[in-house]
Amino acid sequence: MVLYHILFISPLICLAWARSALYGACDVKNNHLDVNTKAFVTDCDSFGYCSINGTCLPRQCRRDEYILSSLLNTDTPIPPLCPNGTFCPDDASGCLPLVGVDGECQLNRDDECASPPEGLVFVVPSLYDEPEGDGSICLLGRCMWSNATLGQMCLVENTTYIGYDPSGMSFTNTVIRDNCIQGQGYCDTGSNTCFPLLDINEGCITDRQCLSYNCERGYCTVPPESAIKVGKWVYALTGVSIGLGMAGVLSILLLMHRRAQKTRRIMLEEYYREQVGYRNSIISFHSALSHQQEKHYDLYTKEGSSVARAKAQEIERTLSNLSEITLVNSRR
Ligand SMILES: *[C@@H]1O[C@H](CO)[C@@H](O)[C@H](O)[C@H]1NC(C)=O
Ligand SMILES: *[C@@H]1O[C@H](CO)[C@@H](O)[C@H](O)[C@H]1NC(C)=O
Ligand SMILES: *[C@@H]1O[C@H](CO)[C@@H](O)[C@H](O)[C@H]1NC(C)=O
Ligand SMILES: *[C@@H]1O[C@H](CO)[C@@H](O)[C@H](O)[C@H]1NC(C)=O
Repeated sequence: MVLYHILFISPLICLAWARSALYGACDVKNNHLDVNTKAFVTDCDSFGYCSINGTCLPRQCRRDEYILSSLLNTDTPIPPLCPNGTFCPDDASGCLPLVGVDGECQLNRDDECASPPEGLVFVVPSLYDEPEGDGSICLLGRCMWSNATLGQMCLVENTTYIGYDPSGMSFTNTVIRDNCIQGQGYCDTGSNTCFPLLDINEGCITDRQCLSYNCERGYCTVPPESAIKVGKWVYALTGVSIGLGMAGVLSILLLMHRRAQKTRRIMLEEYYREQVGYRNSIISFHSALSHQQEKHYDLYTKEGSSVARAKAQEIERTLSNLSEITLVNSRR
């Protein structure tokens, strides 16, 4: 029922509350935080703040390092970030000096409070990379130090944020903050005393009770976003394994190279042996033919046999052909 109400009424509210442009009229008394979202609401649009004389003047400062492009306007210069030691209040009316202990601050604005002097407030470093402050905190609208030790009285701030997703479904987010020493204790809401934060695998009800700020199914667990810490021995093992792997690949390559070289050498040796054999048989063939030719020439000179002469000439031709073939073969 509430949902229905908000879904259909909110556009009307928006129309009725059209915000004033720069130099339009406004009322400082309308500055407030939205009941549900706790966002700052003013009569002026995103470029102005409501000044005390009832006019929207250009914003004097900003908190966001990066600005939405919808807030970039060539007519309005981008307001500057505040220098160190100052902060930009919710209405962006100008940088103000940081607030000391017991000074007023705005909801969820720890950055408005001055840091405690160096070494005065202890912050236990988070083992799980959870964000931590500097020991100052804006609690219940006042700046204070988060210095309550275990068993001491502490203060709690319970804020419920209500939002609406695009389909109009509402969701709530309750944030409970306290002034127990960060990373050491949490303020128990029943007894208002600081209890020690719980270690991994200890029973819990809410995230804020855990050192890891992550309570899952009733037990404190390592948050999924925390960095994985790797031991020195893992680095050493990885290094040695990589070295061994590289040496192994190298020796296998060397072995393969040697084997290939050996087969090639054997092949070459066989080739040369074959060549020598071939050459020797040609030489013996050659000498046998020359021998025969000589015999035929002798016959021709002794008996004048024309048959012997023709045979001798034929053998001579064969011999010259043979030497040509041998030459060609040896050139290849
Ligand atoms: C409010 O103050 C601003 C700056 O001082 C001035 O420009 C503007 O005219 C004033 N408006 C009224 C209604 O007095
Ligand atoms: C502001 O102060 C912080 C720490 O004190 C320092 O790291 C940073 O550089 C300062 N910034 C400027 C703009 O002075
Ligand atoms: C703890 O912080 C408060 C301010 O929040 C301060 O007044 C008080 O002296 C601090 N206590 C100790 C023991 O430092
Ligand atoms: C915080 O406030 C909400 C709403 O006011 C309430 O339902 C819840 O029980 C409170 N939580 C604690 C721990 O007090």
